[in-house]
Amino acid sequence: MKKDRILVTGGTGYIGSHTVVELQNAGYPVVIIDNLSNSSRDVLDGIERITGQRPDFVEADCTDINALKKLFSDYPGIKGIINFAASKAVGESVQKPILYYRNNLNTLLNLLDLMTPNDVKGIVFSSSCTVYGEPDENPVTEQSPIKKATSPYGNTKQISEEIITDVINSGAPFKSVILRYFNPVGAHPSAEIGELPNGVPQNLIPYLTQTAMGIRKELSVFGDDYDTPDGSCIRDYINVVDLAKAHVIAVQRMLEDKSDEQIEIFNLGTGRGTSVLELINTFESATGVKVPHKIVGRREGDIEKVWANPEHANKVLGWTAGSTLEDTMRSAWAWQCKLRERGIM
Ligand code: NAD
Ligand code: WQD
Repeated sequence: MKKDRILVTGGTGYIGSHTVVELQNAGYPVVIIDNLSNSSRDVLDGIERITGQRPDFVEADCTDINALKKLFSDYPGIKGIINFAASKAVGESVQKPILYYRNNLNTLLNLLDLMTPNDVKGIVFSSSCTVYGEPDENPVTEQSPIKKATSPYGNTKQISEEIITDVINSGAPFKSVILRYFNPVGAHPSAEIGELPNGVPQNLIPYLTQTAMGIRKELSVFGDDYDTPDGSCIRDYINVVDLAKAHVIAVQRMLEDKSDEQIEIFNLGTGRGTSVLELINTFESATGVKVPHKIVGRREGDIEKVWANPEHANKVLGWTAGSTLEDTMRSAWAWQCKLRERGIM
C-alpha cells in the first residue's frame, strides 16, 4: 500500500537527513523544506546515494507562512510533519535571543496553524534533554521535573512543548509526539551523511573527530572535578541512526492512530551515562586513533550529569537504541575521514 507523504522541516540538517533516509527506507514519500541556514544542498546527493531516491526539496524558510502554504498546495496529501527546523547553538542563543525565539517559535506556530486546513494528522517535535536542566536524580524519566531554562535556546524547547500542549488541548484535530533527544552523535554507517558543524565546533564529538584528524591541536576536557567517578561530565550519547528510526515509529503511530493519547512525550536515549574521558577512551580503542587532550576548567552552564530512562519509548514505541558506542564512534570517524577525502575539512 502506498504510504502517506511526510513533510520534514530541516530535513537537510544532521538529524533530519538521517531521518529522511529511514523514512524513505520505510516507504514514505518525503518532502523536505530547509532554508539551508545550517546545511547544504549536497546532503540530498548523500540521501540519494544511500536510498536510491531523491526526496522532494523546497528551499524556503518555515517562518514564511506563504512559502509553507505554497508547499502544501504544490505537494498535496501531506499527512505527517516532522519538525527539525530550528536554530540550535546554545551559546549563540544567549547572544541573539530574538533570532532564536523568532526562528524556533514562528516555525512551530506556522506549522501548527496550517495543519488543520491541510488535514495533517500529526506532528513530531524535536525537543531536548535540556528541558530537565541539572536533574535531581538520574536516569531521568518523562515525569522528571522541568527546570528553568538556562538559555534562550533551551527556553524555545520548553515553550514549544507548552505551545503544542495548549494547541492540542484547545481541541485541534491532530496528534503530536514530542521526542526529547539526549546527545545525538555519530553518522550514517555509509559515511554519506553526517554532522556538518559550522566553524569551530562547540559540541564534543565534532571537536573530538576534528582533533583526531589534526584540524584542531587538542581537545579541551571541560573539568575533571565534578561529582562523577572520573570527575568529567556524564551524558547519554545516542546514535543518530537509532534516533532517526524512532521518528519513523512515531510518525507511523500517529498516522495509524495507534495511541489513545493525542499528545505523547518520549525520552530518546540509551539509558547509559558516559563520561567525557570514557568517550575519548572508547573513540581511541574503537578507531585506533589517538585524541590529544588536556583537562581545562569547567565550561560555564554545563550540566554535571544527565542520562535517560528510555523505558517508556522501549515499551510503548517498541524502540531501543541498539548501536554500541564503539560502532557509533567508528561511524563518526568514518564521516570525518569522508569530509577530508572530499576536501571539505
Ligand atoms: P541542524 O542545524 O543540523 O538541522 C536543522 C536544519 O533546519 C538545518 O538544515 C537548517 O538549515 C534548517 N533550518 C533552521 N531554521 C529553519 C527555518 N526557519 N526554515 C527552514 N529550515 C530551517 O540541527 P540538528 O542537530 O539536526 O537538530 C534538529 C532538531 O533537533 C533541532 O530542532 C534541534 O534543536 C533538535 N535537537 C538537536 C540536538 C543535537 O544535539 N543535535 C539535541 C536535541 C534536540
Ligand atoms: C558534551 C560534554 C562538555 C566540548 C548540548 C546542548 C543541549 C543539546 C545537546 C540540543 C559536556 C564536554 C564538550 C569540548 C568537552 N542540544 N565537552 N570539550 O553540552 O551536553 O549539550 O548539545 O538540544 O541542549 O546544550 O553537549 O557536546 O557540547 O558537550 O569537554 O570541546 O562534552 O563539557 O560535558 P551538551 P556537548
